Amino acid sequence: MEEIKQGQGESLQGESLLVRRLVEQGVRDPRVLNAFEQVPRAAFVPAELQAESQDDRPLDIGCGQSISQPLIVAAMTEALQLSGSERVLEVGTGSGYQTAILCQLLGPGAKVRSIEIVPELLARAAITLARLGYGRAELRLGDGALGWPEAAPFDAILVAAAPREVPPALLEQLAPGGRLVIPVGPNPDHQELQLWHRLSSGALEHRTLLAVRFVPLVARRQGSHSSSGN
Ligand SMILES: C[S@@+](CC[C@H](N)C(=O)[O-])C[C@H]1O[C@@H](n2cnc3c(N)ncnc32)[C@H](O)[C@@H]1O
Repeated sequence: MEEIKQGQGESLQGESLLVRRLVEQGVRDPRVLNAFEQVPRAAFVPAELQAESQDDRPLDIGCGQSISQPLIVAAMTEALQLSGSERVLEVGTGSGYQTAILCQLLGPGAKVRSIEIVPELLARAAITLARLGYGRAELRLGDGALGWPEAAPFDAILVAAAPREVPPALLEQLAPGGRLVIPVGPNPDHQELQLWHRLSSGALEHRTLLAVRFVPLVARRQGSHSSSGN
């Protein structure tokens, strides 16, 4: 396994190596860093890519999709400023890695809901999350652009695929004081990560965090149904 040598001959492996790289790239929130320390990225990566699971880059997870780059997962998580009691919605479950990071950050009473449009990915993520003890995440098959109206409003919404414009349903489902982090743009060469904030007055404000490259948020291709990650 790849290692970074520390002072006194100490070496870093596994999640510690990944966390060290995040710190070197400017991730500062200790709660976010602790969550990365606790969640084994290798468990969300296909067998043939295990040796690369600690690399700070996206990796293929099948179905034409990828597990996101850890630095981007960290930046999006930090932007939500979670305290531990929020109602959280994720769009684009993918491997379930980001879902696990969110579960790790939230208290046992807080709810993480995640929507994925590819059935195979959702089924695999549900198994991985349950095996690692994150089965309390509630998963749904469907089009995340529609949000999860029955469970709204949300204090935090994280979208891991890029629409051309922010889906109105997600803004409508954002609670006062809530935050939405979302990549937006017509294609991977022209996307920016946006942070939206609904003020207590109900007004919305937003700003751009950084340039990013995400897969597109695809349109609904079938009816949706719910399934628990338990
Ligand atoms: C970059 S991957 C997410 C990676 C995930 N954060 C992880 O840690 O593995 C984006 C995911 O969004 C999903 N997706 C794309 N369009 C969607 C939609 N309209 N609704 C729900 N999920 C969608 C893709 O199938 C893919 O799994």
